Amino acid sequence: MIGAARIHLPMWWAGLTAAARLAGAGFRAWRGGNLAALLGGSAGQREVFTVLRAFAPNIRLQRRFVTAYENTGTAIVTRRSEVTEVLEREADFAVVYEPKMRAITAGENFFLGMQDSVAYQRDVSLMRLAARRDDVARLVLPFVAEEAARIVAAAPGRLDVPDALTRRVPARIVMRYFGLPTENEDRLIEQATLMFWYLFVDLKGEESVSVPALQAAAEARAWIDGCIAARQGTPDAAEDVLARCLALQAAGMPGTDDLAIRNNLIGLVIGLIPTLSKAAVQALSQLLDRPEALAAAQAAARAGDDVRLAEIVFEALRFDPVNPMIYRRATRDVEIARGTRRALKIPAGTMVLAANLSAMFDPMAMEEPEAFRPGRPWGDYMLWGYGMHACFGAQINRAVVPAMLKPLLARGGLRRAEGEAGRIDGRTPFPAHMTVLFDAA
Ligand code: HEM
Repeated sequence: MIGAARIHLPMWWAGLTAAARLAGAGFRAWRGGNLAALLGGSAGQREVFTVLRAFAPNIRLQRRFVTAYENTGTAIVTRRSEVTEVLEREADFAVVYEPKMRAITAGENFFLGMQDSVAYQRDVSLMRLAARRDDVARLVLPFVAEEAARIVAAAPGRLDVPDALTRRVPARIVMRYFGLPTENEDRLIEQATLMFWYLFVDLKGEESVSVPALQAAAEARAWIDGCIAARQGTPDAAEDVLARCLALQAAGMPGTDDLAIRNNLIGLVIGLIPTLSKAAVQALSQLLDRPEALAAAQAAARAGDDVRLAEIVFEALRFDPVNPMIYRRATRDVEIARGTRRALKIPAGTMVLAANLSAMFDPMAMEEPEAFRPGRPWGDYMLWGYGMHACFGAQINRAVVPAMLKPLLARGGLRRAEGEAGRIDGRTPFPAHMTVLFDAA
C-alpha cells in the first residue's frame, strides 16, 4: 500500500506539472500557429502521456484519429501493462495493414499484415531461414562497420548524417546482404521510404502519399523480379537472403514461388531502410542534446566498448523512438485491465493506439523512467514492437544502429552544425538531413 503510494503520488504530481507545462506551451504554440509541432515531437508526446498515465491511462474517444483504415473510434492505452496486454492479445486486437500490403504487392498479403495463421507462421519461418540470426555478427555487422568507417573517414569534418551515412548503409545492406543490387541507390532509399510512409505513417489515407508510394511499389516489384530472374536456375553458394530463398524454392518448400519470394523481400526492404536510418539519427540527436551522455558514448566508441555504446545509444532512442505508438483494431467487444480501476471496455472496430513510448516512461514498470540511465534491463525497452509482430529485424537493429554511429562518435569535437542545418529536418516523417561537425582525423 505504502509502496504503491510512493509511486502513485509522484506520478500524479508529474501528471499535474506536465499538464501545466502543456497548457503553457500549448498556448504559446497555438499563438505561434505551431500546435502540431508541439504534439508531433517526442518531447510533447511524452508530456501528454505523463498526464494520461496519471489521470486517464486507458481512454476511449468517439473521434476517429486514424482514417486510412476502417474503424469506429479510438482508444489509447498508456501504461506498460495495457500496452503489452493489447499487443499480446493478438486475436482480439488485430493488425490492420492488409489492404495496403496488398496494394504494395499488387496481390498477396505480407506477414506483418496477417493475424496468427498457417500463412503467417510459414512466411516468418521461411524468412528466418533466409535471414538468419547468426548472419548478423558474421555478415551484416562487419559490412556495416566497414561502410560506416569509410563514409566517415571520407567526410571533411562535416557530415549530413541521414543523407550520407544512415540511409546509405541500410540501402547497401539490402544490395549486399539481401542480394538485391541496384544501380540507383538514391531511388532505392526513396522507394522504401515512400512505401513505409504509406503503410505505417499515413494515418489519414492521403493521396499525396499513396500515389508516389504505389508508383514506388511498382518499380520495386519490377526490380526484385529482375533480381530473382537473374539468379534463377543458377544456384550459387552466395550467403545472401535471396540465394537462401532460391535454395528453399529448389528444395520444394511451400510458400517459395517467385511471387512469394518477391513479396517477402519487398516487406523486408520496406522495414529495413527508413527505420534503421531514423533510429540512428534520432538517437544521435538525443545524444547531441546531452553533453554527458554524448561524452560517454564517444568514450565507449573510442574504446571499442560496443556493449556500453549500444546501451547508451538505445537509452537515447528511448526518448525518441521511431514509432511512439503501435495501432491495432479490436476484432470484437473486449475489456482490458480487467479487475482493476483502469478497466476499459473497447467495442469491436475500435482502433487501439498502444503507446510504446509511454510504456517506456511508466513509473509503475520502470525505475526512474525520466532519468537517462544506460544499462537498463533490455526487457524495459519497447523500441520496435512487442508480441507476435515484434520486429523481425530486432537483432539487426541492435547491432546496426550503434555500429553506424560508432565511427562518427569516435571523432573529437562532434557537434551540431550551426542553425537549422544541425537539426533534424522534419519536413517528412523521416529525417532527411541533420549535419554534424567534427575534428578532422
Ligand atoms: C530500428 C529499426 C527498426 C524499427 C524501429 C522497427 C520497428 C518495427 C515495429 C514497431 C514493428 C511492429 C509493427 C506492429 O506490431 O504493428 C516491426 C515489425 C517488423 N519489422 Fe521492424 N523495425 C526496424 C528494423 C527492421 C529491419 C532491419 C527489418 C528487416 C530485416 C524489419 C522488418 C520488420 C518486419 C518484417 C516486421 C513484421 C514482423 C511480424 O509481423 O512478425 N524491421 N518493426
